[in-house]
Amino acid sequence: MKDFIAGLPKCELHLHIEGTLEPELKFELAARNGIELPYASVAEMRAAYTFDSLSSFLTIYYEGMKVLRTEPDFYDLAMAYLRKAAEQNVRYAEIFFDPQAHTSRGVPFDVVIRGLRRALMDAHAQLGVRAQLIMCFLRDFQAEYAMATLLESLPYKEWIAGVGLDSDERGNPPRKFAAVYERARQEGYLLTMHCDVDQDDAVEHIRQAIEEIGVDRIDHGVNILEDQRLVEVVLARGMGLTCCPISNGYVTDSMKAEGIRKLMDLGVRVTINSDDPAYFDGYVQENLVALHDALQLTREELAQLQRNAFEITWLPRHLKDAYL
Ligand code: ADE
Ligand code: ZN
Repeated sequence: MKDFIAGLPKCELHLHIEGTLEPELKFELAARNGIELPYASVAEMRAAYTFDSLSSFLTIYYEGMKVLRTEPDFYDLAMAYLRKAAEQNVRYAEIFFDPQAHTSRGVPFDVVIRGLRRALMDAHAQLGVRAQLIMCFLRDFQAEYAMATLLESLPYKEWIAGVGLDSDERGNPPRKFAAVYERARQEGYLLTMHCDVDQDDAVEHIRQAIEEIGVDRIDHGVNILEDQRLVEVVLARGMGLTCCPISNGYVTDSMKAEGIRKLMDLGVRVTINSDDPAYFDGYVQENLVALHDALQLTREELAQLQRNAFEITWLPRHLKDAYL
């Protein structure tokens, strides 16, 4: 079955590019930028990746990305991921980036997006992997900063498929960003949002995302199972969920495989993704294998997960059809 999974043409819809920063590249970029890291080796760095919650993960994630400073740094980061994606037969990826994690420490927005964009163009030409960018706002910053970031992105609108919301969910409900999302919609951006697994008020956050914000899809969102009415809304709208089993296992008590199974059985457009693979030790292939090991998925079910993903991409219909 591993070979079958390896051979499946794949689609990745929930991947933070900063979460693909492997320790080896972190050391390389630190050396390039004259930054001293508090670890003597790759092994020592990996050994420090001890997290058991979203917030303990985020501390390490933000610390790690401080080595990213210049346009070539962002290019190299994205190119390294896209090479890995090509190896795993990922044909299309929608990639999150966190501009505020960089602008807040003095790296200009255009440095970030130009580096990422150039990598996407080169990867398409050289590796045959297509990708688009999704700009995420950090929900633990003020809504005004998200709005300023949205406005700063407008000259690059053609390079950004949509917007998302990530970082620490506690005390930062979807509603906080209602005006930002409204403006993003007016600007033509598609909308997604993290509703992380087992967070406080998880179901209420999902409800706000769907009913108050009107998102096009939800990142994670497994707790929707606790509200049958919301499941029916998602089914009626054909909305997708971007689930990340290995990530779930790190930030909660389990991969939530049974929940994912239930959503699949209900006919929800579930997709399987890697979230922050350099930290959670698993790209999309490893996530599919882990889910298969837990659920004994059939070939048809594994293929259906990929069809779900291509179907809910933010590609024009004719490009979706070419993958389906
Ligand atoms: N930023 C990067 N990864 C994240 C995750 N899994 N949840 C929320 N914010 C994130
Ligand atoms: Zn995520």
